[in-house]
Amino acid sequence: MIEVPNVKEIATGQASGKIILMGEHAVVYGEPAIAMPFSATQVTAVIRRSQEDFLDSAYFTGPLTQVPQSLNNLKELIYMLRQDFAAPPLLCTITSTIPAERGMGSSAAVAVAVTRAFLAWQQVEETPAGLLHYVNQSEKIAHGNPSGIDAAATSGTEPILFERDKPFHAFPLKLDGCLIVADTGVKGKTRDTVRDVASLMTTNPQQAQRAIQQLGDLTRQAKEAISANQARYLGLLMNEAHTLLQSLSVSDPTLDQLVQVARRNNALGAKLTGGGRGGCMIALATDAHNAAIIANQLENAGAAATWIQRLGYTPAVPVSL
Ligand code: PMV
Repeated sequence: MIEVPNVKEIATGQASGKIILMGEHAVVYGEPAIAMPFSATQVTAVIRRSQEDFLDSAYFTGPLTQVPQSLNNLKELIYMLRQDFAAPPLLCTITSTIPAERGMGSSAAVAVAVTRAFLAWQQVEETPAGLLHYVNQSEKIAHGNPSGIDAAATSGTEPILFERDKPFHAFPLKLDGCLIVADTGVKGKTRDTVRDVASLMTTNPQQAQRAIQQLGDLTRQAKEAISANQARYLGLLMNEAHTLLQSLSVSDPTLDQLVQVARRNNALGAKLTGGGRGGCMIALATDAHNAAIIANQLENAGAAATWIQRLGYTPAVPVSL
């Protein structure tokens, strides 16, 4: 009798990085945030059957039982998937252009790509809720108490208005402007900054709660600015958000310096993005020419890498200059 396999030989899953435009940290406390997939950075996972569970990635190659602590989220995700679907051992190969721990949602994007590859391998239909179920669990292991924004943003193709524990809304982002993303070259400290904001909420609740609420208001205004194609106004809101994030102690001198450089070079606005204290900052420019100048100056000032993304299309299209 011929055995009919119910798994594919090999399957692939993909996801893109993400950028938080507005609302990081406030989103942990129920305020809205705006995030967008960042298609200039991508991760691909390939899954095939193997004698034992094995990971092949830039950070670690070897048996899954021996992955370093920093990849526990991935190990647990694979075990969870294998158990839920009674699947055989697998080899998971990951290639990524998303810098890790830079506020670009690398861990969530890897979880999205791996889950997608696994479901395709098992020939199980992918549903948004099913995908998020696994990615959110993996993110909890990686980040402690994540809002879920990374999981939502890296699994879609459109910008989202995200509120914790609520269904999120995708919306078209059609703005006359270009976004520059600059990597400080320093690992972000999302776990630390989320914890420190939480302790500020206890030690100085009035100030911290006010800043969180104001960040939420700025996000709501940013959504209106985007709908009305008001890039200049959005830039001002970004500047205000950065000041509030500084007051929550989640910025650092490197981020502050790059924000200043962008503003000095005619950015409409600039702020840190993601968890902070390292990671990335973003700046808004009127057009691709202005964006290229700002990106160049950011690199001269020490940014490890920069990307430019036009905001006038859905999904946003990376610019090559
Ligand atoms: O550093 P990232 O890209 O993982 O973003 C963290 C965003 C926070 O709002 C600071 C935390 C969260 O869970 O939403």
